This record gives sequence, structure tokens and C-alpha cells, in this order.
Amino acid sequence: MLTAVFLLSSSPVTNKKPIAVVAGDGIGKEVIPNAIEVVKASGAAVEFTHFDWGADRHLADGTTIPPDAFQMLARDFDAIFVGALGDPRVPTNIHAKEILLGMRFKMDLYANVRPVRLLDASLCPLKNATTADINFTVIRENTEGVYMDMGGVFKFGTPDELATQEDINTRKGVERVIRFAFEYARSNGRKKVLMSDKSNVMTYAGGLWQRVFKEVAKEYPDINTQHMYVDALCLQMIRQPQSLDVVVTNNMFGDIITDLAAALQGGLGMAASGNIHPGRTSMFEPVHGSAPPIAGKNMANPMGAILTAAMMLAHIGLAAEAQKIEDAVTQAVREKKKTADVGGSMGTRECAAWIGERVAR
Ligand code: NAD
Ligand code: IPM
Ligand code: MN
Repeated sequence: MLTAVFLLSSSPVTNKKPIAVVAGDGIGKEVIPNAIEVVKASGAAVEFTHFDWGADRHLADGTTIPPDAFQMLARDFDAIFVGALGDPRVPTNIHAKEILLGMRFKMDLYANVRPVRLLDASLCPLKNATTADINFTVIRENTEGVYMDMGGVFKFGTPDELATQEDINTRKGVERVIRFAFEYARSNGRKKVLMSDKSNVMTYAGGLWQRVFKEVAKEYPDINTQHMYVDALCLQMIRQPQSLDVVVTNNMFGDIITDLAAALQGGLGMAASGNIHPGRTSMFEPVHGSAPPIAGKNMANPMGAILTAAMMLAHIGLAAEAQKIEDAVTQAVREKKKTADVGGSMGTRECAAWIGERVAR
């Protein structure tokens, strides 16, 4: 009896799923609050807690992210919703590195899932492309590679200067992200996993990826496999995007090809992503950055952030709300209720408000 009373008074019963929010810098501070309004309009049973980590906070008191934050986020939240980090007033980008890459690395969010879906043919820069043609997912390794920041300089600032940047690939890291790609394919009705690398030049790292890919593929006889060098993949993304299904690649290649993939969807303002470790608190962020030149002008496209919010809701089990939001974004594109970067004339707030109203219907 005492225990029951204690439980009731210390943890009020709430069915709302807790979500941590880091709007961050630049347009992150515009698109995230607007996307949150859309989530609220969907009726999703979630509760947002805001954290002010970003350039302003860093410039004010030196904080990037408090040391115990990663444990706290993993313990107290079902998901994290992040805007963008990066501000010209912090030229070292140290805060972005510690907050964004900090979450990816220290929370071990090893699979960066970046869906590439064209919502309406009018958004695609390719001639005659249909929505069916552009529908694939990039699974980007998210905790290794050149992002591990291993390397150094020798004879700094002299004509003989030497700089190295190591590309770290562990057997465990490669294997788990490749397995994630196959599992993703299976659970999303996808038929093929394509692994992309540059093993013709990066023979050691590429060799590991090649061997592991072949081994893991044996466990998934129902899924077709393909390999393509990453330069050839760039060509394929433009020439025959319809041939792509699930693409798995390393951290750096995944970063680069997903900006190209964003262009296929209408631009960076349309692209969503999730940084996932199955079973753990995962982090969701639009693919775009803080876009300093358009920040604070009500110009940023909120759709990438809104679609990211939908992805997050689906991940935490709120699939119906996620679908409502995606449908409303698609409708907004069709009815030209969109921002200038994708050929519309609406502001950030007006575009998001239209989508929110649609969702609330
Ligand atoms: P960016 O994505 O901020 O901008 C690239 C181009 O796309 C710009 O022309 C910008 O105006 C446009 N753009 C991006 N998002 C848009 C949106 N929602 N609506 C309309 N237009 C949009 O990339 P950048 O200029 O290379 O980087 C700016 C800063 O953001 C840098 O500090 C960079 O490190 C950081 N960055 C952060 C993230 C992140 O936090 N996830 C991602 C990429 C870049
Ligand atoms: C992204 C961004 C980041 C990355 C930067 C801001 C560190 O470009 O999320 O795509 O390179 O991963
Ligand atoms: Mn990027």
C-alpha cells in the first residue's frame, strides 16, 4: 500500500510519451517550433521538453552540452527532436560537434536512416520523374569512419605540413549497420540492399565492407543484393533512381549522397532523418543545416522538420498520427502551400500552419 502511494505521488500517471527538443541554431529555431505545432494538431500523446543547447547558450556561458546530458536523454525520453547546429559566430563548430555528433556517438545511434521519397512529381529536378521513381532509403553508418576525428598534423603551418584523417571501420560497426539495412529492408517490404563503397581505392576499409556484406547477406536469402562504387551510385541516383531500394554506406559517403538525394525530393528543405539504435532513445533531425543566410526571415521550409517529426512519431509507436502528418504535407505540396525554395510563396509559419490545420481536421 505504501509503495503504491509512493509510486502514485512521485510519478504522476501520464500516457504521454516524453520527447526532448533541441531546436539549436539558425532555421532550426524556426522549423522545430512550427513542426511541434503540427504534432500537437495531430493529437499525438507526446510531451515536449525543450533544451536550449546551441550557439546562443554556448556564447553566453560556454556550455555545449552538459556532461550528464546523454545519460539523462536516454533515461528520461522516448525520442529526441533536433533542429540544426551550426553558427558563423562559432567558427570552430565545437558546439555542433559536441551536441549533434555527441548524441550520435555517445548514445551510439549507429544507423542514420534517411528516406528518399518524392511527394509530388513537381518537386523533382529530373525530367519526367514520377513519385514511384524516387522511393528509396539510405542507411548511413553513423558512429565511425572519418567522423571519429582521428588524425593529426605534423609540421603545422610550414611548407612541409602533413595532415592525416583516419577512416575507422570496425568489424562490429560495419556488421551492425549492414545487418540493420537488411532488417530495415525486411520490415519495410523492400526487396534489395545495395552496399556502396570505394573499395577499388580504399582497399582495406572497402575490403572489410565487402566481406561483411557478403556474409550478412547469406542470412537474408529473401533480399537481393547489389554493390556499387559510390561515384557510380551518384550517377545512378540521377539516371535510374527507380532502381534503388535500400542503400547502405559509410558515414562520409552517406552524408554526401543524402544531400544529392535531398535534391531529388525537392531540396534540403524536404529531407527527413532518424539516428537510430534499435531499442534505445533515438534522435530525429531534418537533413538540412542551420542555413544562416535565411535564418530568422520566416523563409525556411518547415516540411523536412515536419516529415522528421512524423518519422519520430512512427518510431515511437504513433503510426496513425505520423501518417496523418505525412498525408497533410503531401497535400500541401500538391496545393502549392509551400515555401520559396520549392517554388511556393508561403512563409515558414504560414506553411506549417496550413499543414497543422489540415492535420487537425
Ligand atoms: P544548409 O543545409 O544549412 O544549407 C544549404 C543550402 O540549403 C542553403 O542554400 C540553404 O539556404 C538551403 N536550405 C537548407 N535548409 C533549408 C530549408 N529548410 N528551407 C529552405 N532552404 C534551405 O547547409 P550549409 O550551408 O552547408 O551549413 C550551414 C550550417 O549548418 C553549418 O554550420 C553546417 O555545419 C550546419 N549543418 C548542420 C546540420 C545539422 O545540424 N544536422 C546539417 C548540415 C549542416
Ligand atoms: C548532416 C550534417 C552533419 C554531418 C554535420 C553538421 C556534422 O551534414 O547531418 O548531414 O556531416 O553528419
Ligand atoms: Mn550532411
